[in-house]
This record gives sequence, C-alpha cells and structure tokens, in this order.
Amino acid sequence: MNPFSSQDNYYLLHSKFYDLTRWAFLFGRSSMQRLYPELPANPSILDLGCGTGKQLVQLKKHYPDAKITGVDRSEHMLDIAREKLGESVQLIYSAYIEELFEENTFDMIVGSYSLTMVEEIPKKLDHIKYHLKPEGTLLVVDFDNTPFKWFREWMMINHVDMKSGLFTILTNLFGDHQLYTRKGYLGLYTYSFFKATNV
Ligand SMILES: C[S@@+](CC[C@H](N)C(=O)[O-])C[C@H]1O[C@@H](n2cnc3c(N)ncnc32)[C@H](O)[C@@H]1O
Repeated sequence: MNPFSSQDNYYLLHSKFYDLTRWAFLFGRSSMQRLYPELPANPSILDLGCGTGKQLVQLKKHYPDAKITGVDRSEHMLDIAREKLGESVQLIYSAYIEELFEENTFDMIVGSYSLTMVEEIPKKLDHIKYHLKPEGTLLVVDFDNTPFKWFREWMMINHVDMKSGLFTILTNLFGDHQLYTRKGYLGLYTYSFFKATNV
C-alpha cells in the first residue's frame, strides 16, 4: 500500500520540500500578481488551497488593508504559511466546503494550483460563486492540458486532475472571462490563467 496515497499524507511529506521545489514547475504563481484587480477599500480575499502561503504573501503586500483568509486541508502546509505570515492573515485548516463562509463574503477568490486538486470540482466552483460577492473576482492559475496520456496519469497519481477540464468548466460557469495559456517545458503541459467577474 502506498502510504502517500491520500492527499493529506502526500503533503505530510511534500510540505517539507514544497517551497524548495515548486518554482520549477508551478509556473505563473508570481506573475499572477499582474492580474490582481483593483478592489474596493478593505477588501475581503480568500486564497483557496493556500498551501505554504506563496500567494498569501503576495496578496498581503499588494492589498495591505485587506482581510485575507487562507483555507487548506493540509495542516502541514498551513504550518509553513503560519511561519511566514503569523496572525496577519486568517488561516483555516479545513477542506473547502460551502458551510465555511456566508454567501457574498469575498471581493476576490484566488486559486493557485489548487483547483485541479480539489475533489468534486463542479460542485466546488458553485461554492466559489456563492461565496463571491456580486462583481467579485475569481483569479486562477493552474495546470491546463497535456498531449501526453502518461503525463496526465502521472499527475493523477500526484492528485492533480488534468482530465476534468477545469478551464472549460470555469468558462461555462462564469461566461465573460480572460484566459491566458502558456506552455510548460516546451509543451509537456500547458498552464492557464483565468480571471472572471461574478455576475
Ligand atoms: C499544489 S498546492 C498549491 C498551494 C499554493 N496555492 C501555491 O500556489 O503554492 C495545492 C494545495 O491545495 C490544497 N487543497 C487540495 N484540495 C483542497 C480542498 N478540497 N480544500 C482546501 N485545500 C485543498 C492542498 O492541501 C495543497 O496545499
């Protein structure tokens, strides 16, 4: 039996070298800042699947007056985020579920390489719409596609779902949007940025 078969156990191990290694293939996490929108004063922002806090640090710097919340189902990843951010953001140890937040809570929800790891993604995207305020922004960067079946299977073993078509589902759900797709490793896979307003 593979002791790292569940995603929580996977991050028990991977949290230890996550920040040292992910720059090499989770592309676009820094440049996501270029897509950060203008938000109202004292905005409320959620980083869904915040992990070790890479995006949280950027968000805090960009929106110093924001109330920022990170939610993650791995306590090991959150421990590292807490070391970086202390009490300056709210960190919630939980899977992302509808009951966590009220309707119309957030001015922006960010998903940085987390949505392809979330189970039952269409249902979770409905929750995102529910938790976003009207005119709130959803901003995503994530793995998109690959021409290689073996790579898709390999990613599945690593709990990343490149089969469900995240960006097609997002497009259908949000309608008007911006989508920018880039190649990773000369086309081994693509990753995309998605930005949309909740209407
Ligand atoms: C690849 S990491 C990305 C972390 C961070 N956003 C980044 O850009 O480095 C994916 C994270 O999503 C979290 N995650 C996966 N499914 C989740 C869920 N259903 N609810 C909350 N967090 C989840 C994992 O625990 C992990 O920390």
